[in-house]
Amino acid sequence: MPSFKEIPYYQFLNKPVGKEVRLENLVVHGTIPEEIRGSHYRAVPDPMFDPRFGDDTLLSDDGMVSRLDISDDGVNFEIKYVQTARHQAEEAAGKALFGRYRNPYTDLPDVEGVDRTVSNTTPVFHAGKLLMTKEDGLPYQVDPITLDTIGRYDFDGAIRSETMTAHVRIDPASQKIYFYGYEADGLASNTVSYCVADANGKLISEQFFENKYCAMMHDFLISENYAVIPTFPTKADSERLKAGGAHWAHDQEDDSWIGLIPRDGSVDDMRWYKGPKGVHSFHMMNAFEHDGAVHMDVHMFASNAFEFVREAGGIHIPQQQVGGAFERWTMDLAEGVEEVRITPMGPPGDMPRIADADMGLPYVNGWYLTVNPEGPPPLLGGPVGALFNMIMQINAQAGQVVGARQMPPAHAISELVHIPSSKEGHMGYLMAIVDQQVGDDEYLHETWILDANNINADPLARIEIPHRLRPQVHGWWVSQDKLEACQ
Ligand SMILES: [Fe+2]
Repeated sequence: MPSFKEIPYYQFLNKPVGKEVRLENLVVHGTIPEEIRGSHYRAVPDPMFDPRFGDDTLLSDDGMVSRLDISDDGVNFEIKYVQTARHQAEEAAGKALFGRYRNPYTDLPDVEGVDRTVSNTTPVFHAGKLLMTKEDGLPYQVDPITLDTIGRYDFDGAIRSETMTAHVRIDPASQKIYFYGYEADGLASNTVSYCVADANGKLISEQFFENKYCAMMHDFLISENYAVIPTFPTKADSERLKAGGAHWAHDQEDDSWIGLIPRDGSVDDMRWYKGPKGVHSFHMMNAFEHDGAVHMDVHMFASNAFEFVREAGGIHIPQQQVGGAFERWTMDLAEGVEEVRITPMGPPGDMPRIADADMGLPYVNGWYLTVNPEGPPPLLGGPVGALFNMIMQINAQAGQVVGARQMPPAHAISELVHIPSSKEGHMGYLMAIVDQQVGDDEYLHETWILDANNINADPLARIEIPHRLRPQVHGWWVSQDKLEACQ
């Protein structure tokens, strides 16, 4: 195991694990409901080698794909590296070859032209395929059963965009998948692709538009008739990149924008709405149409939540003082409206989750994670240094938070996945990895299954994962029937 820089990105829970693991017949406390059969996939960044630079590279750690498989025969866990071209090049060399986050000008000459993406952000399951995504490149396809990498995925050669977002949206009725790629034709470009693939995964539309500026566009939403494209002033600059600098610098003084594209129409009919200056969001919960407007429920921050992105923009705000809120942004469809209207809904947080069946539609139930400022201190780890310790439940119709679950001291919770229930009136289940610190550098890990009808009740089941785990980014639940259908 190589040694790593002694900085928070590689200490505590962030300490690299550096190996592939398979664990069988895991111990389950409680009872896993019979209707929960399937696999929980997660994207886990875990660097094989100490990076050449240390200040911004957590986002560049090698992607691993983990699978918790729940069947009538028991529960198994497995995690493997995604065999990206970058991972293979570095493994062959026995050291890190690539440079700063999304700056190829800082790479060693040996890897010029090698695909730099690390597939470490979201496992996306659609049309029987499991894609490991990251927004700086195209995804890698992985076998959902063996977790072996099949290869770089380009929609059978159909896609022209060089990038695809890690946050896609799937229409529950048609099962069409909507996504986009920014910097679609090169580094620091304003060009954005907007794509639709059908229920079989065939790319049926790819259009391009020019954004207001080259922005970090991490997530987007669909409503019944629109794609909702957020643009916040975290910007790339090609001259800064050529000088070996940061890919992103936040601009506190520029406007944010929301673009509405007719979902199955033309980007030429895109309509822009101006939002506040300097704000930034990584993740959005849902969008829906009501009363002649498109509403977007979003985790907003007063600046970029990553310190290295603020610092690159000359913004010196301590992490705890960034500020933000869970908000509803409303884009009125009436003629002449040019600005968003903002309604607060709850305290700041991130990692929103809704039922897949509610995507793009008026909805009631949503959940997200936060750090409770009045609760026990959060565990150290993750990309911003502290991990979530509270689950929030919202009622979107009421437009407010209606419940919360505080995790016990020394516990952290990762992003939830939602598993639907077939029982009438049942809100389904929530599943997540829970980390517990039990010593200076000792942690226990479990998967918790909660009843969404009562998030404060004891977990229905806790599944022990007897191996060190590194914090994940995003996860995805795939039911057993969907997995069987693709074999
Ligand atoms: Fe994300």
